[in-house]
Amino acid sequence: MIARVKEIIKKHGNKRENLLQILHDIQNQSDQNYISEENIKTLSEEMKIPVSDIKGTASFYTMYSFIPRGKYIIRICESPPCHILGAQTIFDAVEIKLGIKVGETTKDGLFTLEATSCLGICGVAPAMMINDEAYGNLDEKKINEILEQIQEKERK
Ligand code: FES
Repeated sequence: MIARVKEIIKKHGNKRENLLQILHDIQNQSDQNYISEENIKTLSEEMKIPVSDIKGTASFYTMYSFIPRGKYIIRICESPPCHILGAQTIFDAVEIKLGIKVGETTKDGLFTLEATSCLGICGVAPAMMINDEAYGNLDEKKINEILEQIQEKERK
């Protein structure tokens, strides 16, 4: 992965203003959707930015993680419009279906469940994102279908 980190830095340019995009790409290229200590160290050496500075910057944004997560990050909106329209039912449905709570990852390493603030698609509340894909007008049945589709795809 060190070689890949160097490639990513080269692609964006070795400037501090590109740090967030570089962190984003590093995380996306990780099978476990996170930024490892080793990668932060490489980044620090290559960009001449202290490790504490990189961590401080990244920890400001909820999309970055320093701990391994699932291949699919489920982010359910818990802001008021989604909350009023049943976000809790959606959390419950995912927790029951996958046997995990918010902040946890399934044993097979496929899914991590997270809570998030408004995703900007309140018109279809309650809503969630799975990686870069948005889903709205959710109910328990829809949740089960979406998750089963992903599980099926991963079995092939
Ligand atoms: S409040 Fe949930 S998407 Fe905006």
